[in-house]
Amino acid sequence: MTDEVNLLVIGQGGREFAIAKKLKESDDVAHVYCAPGNVGMPSVGVETVNISENDFASLIKFAQEHNVRWTFVGPEDCLVDGIVDEFHAAGLKIFGPDARAAQLEGSKEYALNFMNNYGVPTADYVSYRDQTALLNNVDQFGYPVVIKENGLAGGKGVVIAKDHDEAVQTIKEMFASGQARIVLEEYLSGPEYSMFIVISNGHYRILPIAQDHKRAYDDDRGPNTGGMGAYSPLPQLSVSDRQRMIDEVVEPTIKGLVNGGYHYHGALYIGLILTKDGPKVIEYNVRLGDPETQVILPRLETALYQLVDAAIDDRPLPEIKESSAASFGVVLASQGYPQKPLHGQKVTLPLNSAGIEIDYANVAGTLTDLHGAGGRLLMILAQGSTLQEAHDRVYNYLEEIPLAGCFYRHDIGAKAGL
Ligand code: AMP
Ligand code: GLY
Repeated sequence: MTDEVNLLVIGQGGREFAIAKKLKESDDVAHVYCAPGNVGMPSVGVETVNISENDFASLIKFAQEHNVRWTFVGPEDCLVDGIVDEFHAAGLKIFGPDARAAQLEGSKEYALNFMNNYGVPTADYVSYRDQTALLNNVDQFGYPVVIKENGLAGGKGVVIAKDHDEAVQTIKEMFASGQARIVLEEYLSGPEYSMFIVISNGHYRILPIAQDHKRAYDDDRGPNTGGMGAYSPLPQLSVSDRQRMIDEVVEPTIKGLVNGGYHYHGALYIGLILTKDGPKVIEYNVRLGDPETQVILPRLETALYQLVDAAIDDRPLPEIKESSAASFGVVLASQGYPQKPLHGQKVTLPLNSAGIEIDYANVAGTLTDLHGAGGRLLMILAQGSTLQEAHDRVYNYLEEIPLAGCFYRHDIGAKAGL
């Protein structure tokens, strides 16, 4: 046994790239492993481990053999599948909610019930297993209306139907594709924000807030995706509205977790819309967001390692210090994402451009011979003394690269006046 601190991150996307990179920056940390990781990670000193994120037994064995102090879980599916419960059963420390709490993301209906029980404002909704019953009630919230698959869908299982015909067709398609339960939800209008908190059994800290861009194409057109770009801070969000989010959403959520007997040591991502009646939650995610993590972590001056270490051990959480710098990022996605992303296209990028960082995700090959592996390939990021400066750096860089088989949105940050 040595005293050095070794950490394990689970996942392989851009979010895990950003988490592992940030942990590796800490002077306290010797090795950061990531399973399975991606081909970009070694360039920031992260050691990838060839174990799939769903192979809990092998991950546990690895953590034991490599004297891992704790494991940070990136993606939701392993949380919903109980990775935290299994690590705890093996006597290992891990950052993330257990399977019970992970239902807050794993089942839309579970989350909506939780919000109703604990007075967290959300949209009106109904949930049905029966197609005919749902179709008979399809018009009750007017149009547009939101139709959601009940289970995990990587941000892609949500359709906003503009009229009766589109709603009926969507519902029929979702049931036909094997969905057992569909949620029909009132459409909330207003700006959408991503709020992230680190929770340690009833205590919490709020991370820098960000705005994601869920639709695939410019001007919020096209299908919902996992997220096409993000930025932080949000100049359009007033101090009083942010405080309302804390008072009306975060506080009752934390009380609900405590009163409901949840053992929550992990990150919670609250997706909310600021309606004219105040903030309303559209989703809980029991993890950090992708791509928001890539823009918020560079703004976090508090050491992520210290924050997570305290949260896992139930020690007082350090104060959050946010950098005054702005952070901005645009996702480069495969042509066809999210429905039918292309694979294997060559991705040619200048690697050492001043002021530009690349957070790799779904890519294969080597950094000098890089190929797409489907979906969201990577994110181009910059910091700046203003959002405009960071924005211009990213878009100036993107304009120079060849775009065969890839695309990106050109209007990230437009809602902040960029
Ligand atoms: P979800 O998977 O629930 O986060 O939904 C994906 C996206 O659909 C959200 O990020 C919103 O942009 C949109 N959305 C979900 N629910 C609603 C709602 N009730 N009203 C308006 N937009 C919504
Ligand atoms: N950016 C949306 C998500 O992580 O679900």
